[in-house]
Amino acid sequence: MKLADNKATLSFSNGTPSVDLPVYHGNVGPDVVDIRKLYAQTGMFTYDPGFLSTASCQSAITYIDGDKGELLYRGYPIEQLATNCDFMETCHLLLYGNLPDAAGKADFTKRVTQHTMVNEQMQFFLRGFRRDAHPMAIMTGLVGALSAFYHDSTDINNPEHREISAIRLIAKMPTLVAMAYKYSMGQPYMYPKNNLSYAGNFMHMMFATPCEEYVVNPVIERALDRIFVLHADHEQNASTSTVRLCGSSGTNPFAAIAAGVACLWGPAHGGANEACLNMLEDIQRMGGISKVGEFMNQVKDKNSSVKLMGFGHRVYKNYDPRAKLMQETCKEVLAALGLENDPLFKLAMALEKIALEDDYFVQRKLYPNVDFYSGIVQRAIGIPVSLFTAIFALARTVGWIAQLNEMIGDPEYKIGRPRQLFTGAVKRDVVPIGQR
Ligand code: SDX
Repeated sequence: MKLADNKATLSFSNGTPSVDLPVYHGNVGPDVVDIRKLYAQTGMFTYDPGFLSTASCQSAITYIDGDKGELLYRGYPIEQLATNCDFMETCHLLLYGNLPDAAGKADFTKRVTQHTMVNEQMQFFLRGFRRDAHPMAIMTGLVGALSAFYHDSTDINNPEHREISAIRLIAKMPTLVAMAYKYSMGQPYMYPKNNLSYAGNFMHMMFATPCEEYVVNPVIERALDRIFVLHADHEQNASTSTVRLCGSSGTNPFAAIAAGVACLWGPAHGGANEACLNMLEDIQRMGGISKVGEFMNQVKDKNSSVKLMGFGHRVYKNYDPRAKLMQETCKEVLAALGLENDPLFKLAMALEKIALEDDYFVQRKLYPNVDFYSGIVQRAIGIPVSLFTAIFALARTVGWIAQLNEMIGDPEYKIGRPRQLFTGAVKRDVVPIGQR
């Protein structure tokens, strides 16, 4: 970051001496006012619950321009990556900062492929869950449990440990998600097959059985790979910030990623794809497109807690570029499967059209986000609704790791420890119980 010529001067109307705060430029995007010395100089904190105006770190990984609806991974527009690259190339880009050449891609893919199996003991963790346990409950447990198997690589300050942990987590997430699915189905787990692509291997572990050969559908394989690319990273979102804060204590990478899985589960975040599909099915059950107006009235009624799931975003005040690409992927997959008339897809497009013309949404700059169409395409592929967020976690693992490793690799990093504005009881003495 570069020190700007101008500075910020904070002055107080009560005569408290003003303070000068340095301003820094990034390479693109908003400048920052450096408040690191504010408390020492003024005895005051800043106040920003929800971090609406706070940069928690400097990063070179992902850049979002919310007004333009622009998303760049290491400078490359998501539209170009989603059409010209695959998930392995994207993982290499996010982790190391560059797109690999053919040899580099083959080497990276081989390293990932060689770590796709999990310890046989992992299957016994699943037995502790009910068969109808939510897959994200299982994933939160399994990812954290991985740290029990890799005592050789849990020192986050050791670059070699960070590297092998990154490879292991990227490689094993599909295996764990597929195991969670098979467990819910009461079917045997399928071992990874090293001759398949990353997405193809995931499909095989999900949908194959020991009873017959499984043939990967290349259209679905490509669609899944693109879904992984679109979900791979997204700046300092809630789950990435959770991973950074968790990792800042020096805990091992598996524990930090498990914290990210837990945070992503929420319906305001990664859980929105599941919530959006359930919302579409509810509207469909109520009567479909004819009931959209009634539903929208509930959404606009401040007293109802109803939200149009898959819409709105803290950063995007324009169309989420991932939503556009996901809608295209929807069309491709539905056409390939002969489901062009999928009622939920038609309902989603009708909802989008109505919302984008409605003043409530226009005024608040609410547009479809990545979660609005992702559920429809995953459902068409045969992925159960409850597994959608686990797929999101599978794809976002590379982004979480890249961001964690960037933080740990920054010599300036410290343990994250925010303060507060205290509004509770001031000091008072305990009264003995007999006198209370
Ligand atoms: C993801 O941060 C990331 O980058 C996340 C993510 C990633 O890749 O990591 O992009 C993934 O989490 C996408 C978001 C998925 N969540 C949803 O689709 C759930 C529905 N969306 C909302 O809950 C909401 O839009 C958030 C949580 C996404 C953003 O919330 P903000 O930024 O805190 O905005 P807000 O709640 O203050 O909303 C501003 C106004 C409010 O109305 P007023 O109080 O001004 O009258 O817009 C309204 C909100 O009520 N609003 C919505 C709405 N989203 C916001 N009203 C109806 N439906 C919605 N979806």
